[in-house]
Amino acid sequence: MLAIGLTGGIGCGKSSVARIFAELGAGVIDTDEIAHRLTHKDAPGLAAIAAQFGAEYFLPDGNLDRAKLRRLVFSDPGAKEKLEAILHPLIRRQVTFDMAAIRAPYLVLVVPLFFETGAYHDLVDRVLVVDCGEDQQVSRTMARSGLTAAEVRTIMANQISRADRVRLASDILPNHAGHEELVETVRKLHRRYLELAADDEVRKR
Ligand SMILES: Nc1ncnc2c1ncn2[C@@H]1O[C@H](COP(=O)(O)OP(=O)(O)OP(=O)(O)O)[C@@H](O)[C@H]1O
Ligand SMILES: [Mg+2]
Repeated sequence: MLAIGLTGGIGCGKSSVARIFAELGAGVIDTDEIAHRLTHKDAPGLAAIAAQFGAEYFLPDGNLDRAKLRRLVFSDPGAKEKLEAILHPLIRRQVTFDMAAIRAPYLVLVVPLFFETGAYHDLVDRVLVVDCGEDQQVSRTMARSGLTAAEVRTIMANQISRADRVRLASDILPNHAGHEELVETVRKLHRRYLELAADDEVRKR
């Protein structure tokens, strides 16, 4: 199946775009959502996290203390590496599993850190980058998350630069205007991907 990797800087609109693709009928797999599921109560990632980080990273109800763990990995690169070593293989395995099960004309795989991790190139045919201005990234993320502007800029500084991301894209999806324009842009891409998927089918016959 034709697979499109979807990425972009923090707050650029990846999740919004993925939602529109799904409404149009594309198959959508979101690695953030998988990561969240894998670290839910009783999920397979949790035992390994408990063994590595200890009970103090869990809430009394048995759920992961996400805020505490986030603060740790933010300030401690070694801890970040350890957490990623636990989660990344689990996430990737779930992605390949979900990819095999999905029935749709084509697939959109959302990987926020696609270029940074480099772990999903082999699973996709093209990479679509959602792009917006850096000030827009800051204001959209602040409005949604409660992070300060400085915190958002720190996260941005730890991601690949906007210029490099755009340079490495197969397709670019500008998200500078409002929601209606975004829907229209995604519709156009959807039509294009349907054509590409149909071409793929013909070639395989
Ligand atoms: N074109 C737009 N106009 C106005 N607001 C937008 C637009 N696109 C996205 N937003 C808003 O900006 C915020 C961030 O968008 P979204 O969650 O889709 O981005 P994201 O790239 O998935 O972010 P993250 O990196 O945090 O996962 C959301 O509140 C969303 O509703
Ligand atoms: Mg998102």
